Amino acid sequence: MLLSELIVWSLLSVVATAAPAPSDPCAAIAGSRFSTPRDTLACLRSFPFNQTLRRNVMITVSRVFDFYTFEDYYPRSSTPFPSAINIRAELDRINSTPYASDYDFNLDLYNTINQLNDGHTLWLPYCYVNWEALLPTPVVSISVDGVEGVYIALDAPDFISLVPPGFTSYYESINFDWKRLAGARVVQVEGKDPFDYVDLVADTVTGNYLDHGVRVNSVFTGYRLSGSSFSQKFGDLAGRVFNPIESLTFSLVPVGATQAETVTVPFLDVFMGNSFSDRDSYWENNCVANANTNGVDRSSRLLHQQLHHQVPQKPPPKGITRSPSDAIGLPLQFQPSLPVVNTNASYMVSYVLPDLITGVLFVGSFQEPSNEQFQLDLATTIASLRDAGATRLLIDLTNNPGGFICQGIYLHQYLSGVGFGYSGFQSAVRGNELAQKVVRQVIAERIGEDNSFYAPEQWAFLNDTVFPNDFNYISPPVPVNVGGNKGTTSQRFHDSCPTSVSIPTQAPFDLSQVAIVTNGNCASTCAMFSTLMRERHNTTIAVFGGRPGQSIEFKGMAGNQVLEWTDLDSEIKTAGLKNDPLAPPDLLVSADMRHNWRTAYSYFDEATPIAYYSEPPTLRFPYTADTYNDPQNLWIFA
Ligand SMILES: *[C@@H]1O[C@H](CO)[C@@H](O)[C@H](O)[C@H]1NC(C)=O
Ligand SMILES: *[C@@H]1O[C@H](CO)[C@@H](O)[C@H](O)[C@H]1NC(C)=O
Ligand SMILES: *[C@@H]1O[C@H](CO)[C@@H](O)[C@H](O)[C@H]1NC(C)=O
Ligand SMILES: *[C@@H]1O[C@H](CO)[C@@H](O)[C@H](O)[C@H]1NC(C)=O
Repeated sequence: MLLSELIVWSLLSVVATAAPAPSDPCAAIAGSRFSTPRDTLACLRSFPFNQTLRRNVMITVSRVFDFYTFEDYYPRSSTPFPSAINIRAELDRINSTPYASDYDFNLDLYNTINQLNDGHTLWLPYCYVNWEALLPTPVVSISVDGVEGVYIALDAPDFISLVPPGFTSYYESINFDWKRLAGARVVQVEGKDPFDYVDLVADTVTGNYLDHGVRVNSVFTGYRLSGSSFSQKFGDLAGRVFNPIESLTFSLVPVGATQAETVTVPFLDVFMGNSFSDRDSYWENNCVANANTNGVDRSSRLLHQQLHHQVPQKPPPKGITRSPSDAIGLPLQFQPSLPVVNTNASYMVSYVLPDLITGVLFVGSFQEPSNEQFQLDLATTIASLRDAGATRLLIDLTNNPGGFICQGIYLHQYLSGVGFGYSGFQSAVRGNELAQKVVRQVIAERIGEDNSFYAPEQWAFLNDTVFPNDFNYISPPVPVNVGGNKGTTSQRFHDSCPTSVSIPTQAPFDLSQVAIVTNGNCASTCAMFSTLMRERHNTTIAVFGGRPGQSIEFKGMAGNQVLEWTDLDSEIKTAGLKNDPLAPPDLLVSADMRHNWRTAYSYFDEATPIAYYSEPPTLRFPYTADTYNDPQNLWIFA
């Protein structure tokens, strides 16, 4: 920020609110949930760049990348998903760039890793990602009279009114009437064709998904099932983490108008972190490493966390479960009016459509904390749908952020019937030197499956016999060659998921009568489930939305298992290897270095990770004004 701007702003704020001295821009925003990007940035950019912190962060990030299964895929541009980035060269660049502030260093690192377009792999410094910038004009691409265009969400007045208090009152306080913009046809954004601007956001802000078309859908608003409640997402145009811009200028034609007008819509930041009263307490409470930042030695603390079979695949970043904008409800009038068939299930809802033969199963996520409960909920739901007369099944995976791998495998297995056999993918972890040392120690010290994801008995041979607890599946490592880049992995293995609710002998629905609808924002376990349905059963998959004329995949973020920084650090500490020269040091700042730790390989080509295997949908449809935020209308159409 320019010094002159800062001074003008500070004087104004002193006059307007008798705010504290200009030397403490954090005190000026303390205690309020919302602040303008200008005020937020004045606080966040006030922390000087610190060489010690950069050195610490960069060593840890670089050593975590040793475990990143897709590193070798990035320098190569021959995949269907070009993302030519040399990770090590980028880390070197960031190591030697001068930065104006700690914020600017972290922004560069965040953006660089975000550009890998893998939501399983992210640098998340909570000092800065605990803010989200919101705009009261989320956009959507819909077809009107057969022509697809970008519009301000038609339901914005109802949807935006559900944002917690303080948001709409800010716009009232500056006399900005956002309600009249709802439904407006967007002619330009920031001087660009609206779809070109959406492409730009998809390529520079969204991250998360390798496929550009899937990222385009992430830019738009739309419905989802969050926990057991319908909600609506802002989309990445109107909801942004690490956002340095203050407003967006639209050229648009409001409903009922004939001419375009130019409107500049200001962002407002929402704070999701720990409370603070001034600059020092902001840093202390939000930026410095805390008791949960780094891993723990599980064996010495006898934690027995029951890691086994709770193998997570975390949702996309930007704290999908932490962000207030994700908890905004879908306005009631757009929620399904049909009766829920099984009212006793979480993380999924079920209906029978008016044709009386189509059952709908909307799987919101695979995040039921208990695998057993997920199995029970699924079994009772499928039984209820059949009892209600459904003979075919439509599965909605729209905006499903994933969850536990075993829940996705179970859903696939349940729909396939008991005779189908193994219902997951082959997978492998990276065979780097430190990973080999960890496995050796885990075996030598009998650390066990409750305390280590590297424990052999977590995994099974390809004939589904669980690895004996002394079976070293990573040494010697298996050489791999990715387009000329040479690396190593463990042996291939299968997941071994327990079944507490038995799988039916017959597939509950004729598999040719099962179809999937999605917008491609189907992450992690969701991507794996939909890929299994396609690869094993040729299931019809319809994708809605995207930019007309561009291709789109039906899955996004199909890595496999993610480890958070604390998970990996705990593996290293538990194996007694924290002092190894290859081990990453504890972070000094409150942050996460999430990474894709395990790869799943395609049935169609077992040399290729499913993440890199291009799979377009069977069918493709635009959204309409009646379907983008109204799941029941979409199901009936489908
Ligand atoms: C940089 O950060 C380290 C670690 O938090 C701290 O000890 C040191 O005082 C900081 N340096 C400056 C110049 O603030
Ligand atoms: C609902 O689920 C809970 C937990 O699984 C179970 O205890 C209860 O009996 C169920 N109720 C009905 C009506 O099925
Ligand atoms: C499965 O494969 C492993 C490794 O090849 C072998 O040791 C084991 O006996 C096999 N199990 C069965 C049941 O065939
Ligand atoms: C898969 O289904 C599509 C139509 O949905 C069909 O054209 C194609 O031949 C099928 N492929 C296989 C391998 O059965």
